[in-house]
Amino acid sequence: MLAAVIVGYMRLHVVDHPLVAHKLSTLRDERTDSPTFRRLTDELVTLLAYEATRDVRTDEVEITTPVAVTQGTRLSYPRPLVVPILRAGLGMLDGMTRLLPTAEVGFLGMVRNEETLEASTYATRMPDDLSGRQVYVLDPMLATGGTLVAAIRMLLERGATDVTAVVLLAAPEGVALMEKELAGQPVTVVTAALDQRLNEHGYIVPGLGDAGDRLYGTA
Ligand code: URA
Repeated sequence: MLAAVIVGYMRLHVVDHPLVAHKLSTLRDERTDSPTFRRLTDELVTLLAYEATRDVRTDEVEITTPVAVTQGTRLSYPRPLVVPILRAGLGMLDGMTRLLPTAEVGFLGMVRNEETLEASTYATRMPDDLSGRQVYVLDPMLATGGTLVAAIRMLLERGATDVTAVVLLAAPEGVALMEKELAGQPVTVVTAALDQRLNEHGYIVPGLGDAGDRLYGTA
C-alpha cells in the first residue's frame, strides 16, 4: 500500500507496508548492531525502491516466448542514474541496484557541518550532462534538508528531468525546506516514515540516531 502525501508541488510518498514498518522499527532500536542494521537497511531500501521506481521509464518491445510472439516491457535508454550521497547513502546502494541492476551509478560526497548544519560537497563522480535523465538519489536521513536540496539542485543543473530522493526517514523541517527551495521542480521523495521533528542537534526525533555511524559501527 502506498500512502501519498502531497506537500505543495513536491510529491512525498510515505510507504505504508507492514514489512517496512517492521524493518524500520528494528533499525530504530538502539540495541540493533551494525551488521543487522546494514542488512535491514538493504532490505528496507529494496522495498522503498519498488515504490520509488513506479514511474521508471519503459519502452514496449516485442519478445518471443517459447510459445508465441508477444508485447513486453523493457527499461528505456538511457538507463536511470542512481546517486548515493556518501557516506551513509552508500549503505543504500545495493538495495536500490538489486531492483535496477542495469542502472548507471554516480557518487556524491557531501558532509554536514555539525555546528552550522550546512552541507558542503567534497567529491562528485557522475556524468556532467544529465539531460533528460531519471535520477534516484540515496540518503538515509532527510533531516534539515540542506544536503538533499544541494544535491538535487546540482542534478537539476546538470539537466536531470526527474529526481526521486529515496530516504529511510524524513523530518517535517527537511520536507518543508525541500518544498520551499525546490518548488515547481520535478522532485519526489519516497520514505519509510515521516517523523516528528528535529532536535537541537539536527537529529531526527524519534529517528534512529546517526545512520552513518550505525551502518559502519563508528558510534
Ligand atoms: N543524520 C543522521 O544520521 N541522523 C539524523 O537523525 C539526522 C541526520
